[in-house]
Amino acid sequence: MNIGILGSAVVAQTLAAGFLKHGHDVMLGTRNPGKLGEWRSTHPQARVGGFADAAAFGEVVVLAVKGSAAADALRQAGAAALAAKVVVDTTNPIADAPPDHGVLKFTTSLGESSMERLQREFGAVRFVKAFNSVGAALMVNPKLAGGPPSMFVCGNDQAAKQVVKGILDQFGWETVDLGTVEAARAIEPLCMLWCIPGFLSNDWSHAFKLLR
Ligand SMILES: NC(=O)c1ccc[n+]([C@@H]2O[C@H](COP(=O)([O-])OP(=O)(O)OC[C@H]3O[C@@H](n4cnc5c(N)ncnc54)[C@H](OP(=O)(O)O)[C@@H]3O)[C@@H](O)[C@H]2O)c1
Repeated sequence: MNIGILGSAVVAQTLAAGFLKHGHDVMLGTRNPGKLGEWRSTHPQARVGGFADAAAFGEVVVLAVKGSAAADALRQAGAAALAAKVVVDTTNPIADAPPDHGVLKFTTSLGESSMERLQREFGAVRFVKAFNSVGAALMVNPKLAGGPPSMFVCGNDQAAKQVVKGILDQFGWETVDLGTVEAARAIEPLCMLWCIPGFLSNDWSHAFKLLR
């Protein structure tokens, strides 16, 4: 598939490398393509452009920008270019304030997630929440003693979630579909939970697994 990635930082770069490894074509979108010069020299197959270029390129688009910039980045990408496309939302609505005893602060409440806000503004986009509840270093084919971890996903479009499940299969994850966009109220705060051992004990090498 052609994958457009909105973002240029660690998540964008990590997922881009993963998509390339699994045979997809990738374009990263950023406000400043020059900043990816060094990364590009080690990933010459990847394309780099603006947000609108990456959105137009992608059959599937990955949203991997700072949480507070998510809506802005999508506006810059262009609602028309994104209409009907699968947009994998990796973002977390982390506030600028520092963590409190290892617990991140969010800009959202338990009654309304960031992805619900995005879905309301960009009604024609087929958002799927994924990749937000694990650190970038473990996003692609993680090797953990406990076996393949679970990726919690949600979104309103069943076919879009199947597309994302296909990606997660390639990336070595078990997909756990938690339903519609409202489930992002629970999936986004998993980022807070995931980060606590990191902030308290510098332990970042874990992922969630749903046991049955
Ligand atoms: N880091 C992780 O391990 C991790 C794990 C899971 C989920 N996440 C989530 O994934 C997302 C990306 O995380 P990250 O650590 O890779 O990067 P980040 O530092 O959170 O964000 C950097 C990206 O945000 C964009 N950005 C910042 N301000 C912007 C604005 N005003 N308008 C448009 N774009 C703007 C930047 O665009 P430019 O390229 O134009 O500068 C850049 O691509 C975040 O929402 C984060 O919460 C991160």
